[in-house]
Amino acid sequence: MEQKIQPLKNGLRGMVTIPGDKSISHRAVMFGSIAKGTTEITGFLKGEDCLSTVRCMKQLGVSIVEDGDKIIIESSGLKGLKEPDAVLDVGNSGTTIRLLAGILATSPFSSILVGDDSIAKRPMGRVTGPLKMLNATVDGREHGQYTPLFIRGGDLRGVHYVSPIASAQVKSSILLAGLGARGTTTVTEPYRSRDHTERMLQSFGVEVNVDDRSVSIEGGQTLTGTMVKVPGDISSAAFLLVAGAITEDSEVVLKDVGINPTRTGILDVLKEMGGDLTISDETLFGEEPVATLHIKTSKLVGTTIGGELIPRLIDEIPAIAILATQAHGTTIIKDAEELKVKETNRIDTMVSQLKELGANIEATPDGMRIIGPTPLHGGTVDSFGDHRIGMSMALCGLISADSITVKNTDAIAVSYPNFFEHLNLLSEK
Ligand code: S3P
Repeated sequence: MEQKIQPLKNGLRGMVTIPGDKSISHRAVMFGSIAKGTTEITGFLKGEDCLSTVRCMKQLGVSIVEDGDKIIIESSGLKGLKEPDAVLDVGNSGTTIRLLAGILATSPFSSILVGDDSIAKRPMGRVTGPLKMLNATVDGREHGQYTPLFIRGGDLRGVHYVSPIASAQVKSSILLAGLGARGTTTVTEPYRSRDHTERMLQSFGVEVNVDDRSVSIEGGQTLTGTMVKVPGDISSAAFLLVAGAITEDSEVVLKDVGINPTRTGILDVLKEMGGDLTISDETLFGEEPVATLHIKTSKLVGTTIGGELIPRLIDEIPAIAILATQAHGTTIIKDAEELKVKETNRIDTMVSQLKELGANIEATPDGMRIIGPTPLHGGTVDSFGDHRIGMSMALCGLISADSITVKNTDAIAVSYPNFFEHLNLLSEK
């Protein structure tokens, strides 16, 4: 599918409720599936990635049903999972495969995990390596570096894993395996990654110890079913925040957006770049803080982004790159090599597609450099099957001189199925 986006005649105005957080939705389904009893999820993201998680957990014998706007899970716990009679297909979802690998490493049966062409290129050694240290039997193409992954779960022992990267998928995978291991499992990261696993495991009755950049869990603890209310995804909100900031005469209100501090780098950067952002109505959905975000058009300036900020906004860098094309001065994004192993190589895809539209952008070994403001012209660009590249390119169409056609927009359904609906709603006068 392709979409033609026409430059906006008037500003974006109005209020939308952002769909559920992808990271939290995955965890709610996985943790509910290994918890004893009933778990009720509201605000679940019915995006392609989270639906892949639901399909995989059903294949493992868990009862998951939709009841109105709720997802209801019934399970007899981790030990109740059953050997799947077919391969588990995670589609495009890195979170599904990496977290599920941790659960399967401690489940006493065999399973095979596969995904789409993008998953086949993404590094799996970052989870298979540490899982082997816990004594798990895990293998895959190129000695466990890539899918398909083969896992025979078994008797694990806790370890202290010092991760070379700040990755919540790696951390969560090891902690989930640690739940079924003897003794203590600890993960230490170079910078703190998103902590939804730590927060949600506690809602399910598991004791988790957090000490600065280290997280520990005692094996043998059981999860008890609970209610999970999923906040709006700040990573999806980011696209509308950027849209509101760069389009003339705009004022956009986004309700119930998750503002977990491990995810709010985008808000810090927006403010730093001169964004007219206000945060109100702060409250909690379970263990997760949420708020209403208001954004208005403003004059923007370039900035430098790197270090501990990167894991707090890694998924928002494509949207930030669009912001930077309209900001006065130079924006430098550094320490962001992880972008190369996302759904696409997001340094290459963003640089090539933005250049196509006339932006002043260069790739660097660990990120990109963007000089603005530059008017963007019309043309045809491609998401390359990456939801966040697709949405970033659509934003360009709102401010370009002529219309922009974005190819492969189906990918957007991975995280924000009603993205174009929301854009249309905000552009109606
Ligand atoms: C995620 C963690 C991040 C993020 C991804 C979702 C998660 O990946 O980019 O979209 O739900 O744990 P990494 O763990 O690879 O940094």
